[in-house]
Amino acid sequence: MRLVIKDTADDVSLWAALYVKARILEAKPDHRKYFVLGLPTGGTPKGMYKELVKMCKAGELSFKYVKTFNMDEYVGLDRDHPESYHSFMWENLFKHIDIHPDNVNILDGNAKDLKEECDNFERKIVEAGGIDLFIGGIGPDGHIAFNEPGSSLVSRTRVKTLNKETIVANSRFFGGRECDVPTQALTVGVQTVLDAREVMILICGSHKALALHYAIEEGINHMWTVTALQQHPKAVFVCDEDATLELK
Ligand code: F6R
Repeated sequence: MRLVIKDTADDVSLWAALYVKARILEAKPDHRKYFVLGLPTGGTPKGMYKELVKMCKAGELSFKYVKTFNMDEYVGLDRDHPESYHSFMWENLFKHIDIHPDNVNILDGNAKDLKEECDNFERKIVEAGGIDLFIGGIGPDGHIAFNEPGSSLVSRTRVKTLNKETIVANSRFFGGRECDVPTQALTVGVQTVLDAREVMILICGSHKALALHYAIEEGINHMWTVTALQQHPKAVFVCDEDATLELK
């Protein structure tokens, strides 16, 4: 595992965007072989998305031969709700870049059969040739995607009930009203992330410092699901100075 420490959250965003750009350019994807990205939502990746949009608008990068799979989506929230992950991704990235809508994969939290939706998502990832680079954030409790503390480290895409901490943390996107935050989500599993050829995790802020400490300095533990990445052959953690406060 590699740890990259940058001064500020803005530096993390730029570093991450340049990394994604380099990977896509190196892969030289075309109509026979797409580059496959796993993507997160949340506050942390917003800066990286802004940088990627800039690069795309400047003609330095194209998403024409990129397929994306998002990590998660709330259950029961209309896809056009401003806080759905569907809306988030279109607002922050997809509508500004040259990706074909057919190449965007976001779980449908309103599917009639949620299990079937999750199984289909795993199947689509395999059909796309697997994920080349999975980008993620982590929660202050070390969750990756919505794999809350106690989740199986060999889990796959499924329905998860969100824990109190995540609901409180995400209530900031719902006007501070915890009661408006959906209580369930569809999420890729820890194993789904581990299957990616490469994983990049972005961590910013002192409120994530304990999680970063567990992620890289403690043993693998299903109460801190991000620790599973210690077994990944190619994982990079990119953090700002504030997130390093608890490192020994
Ligand atoms: C987002 C996701 C979550 C977030 C995590 C950090 O798709 O699955 O695991 O990455 O909760 O969120 P922020 O970046 O808002 O602190």
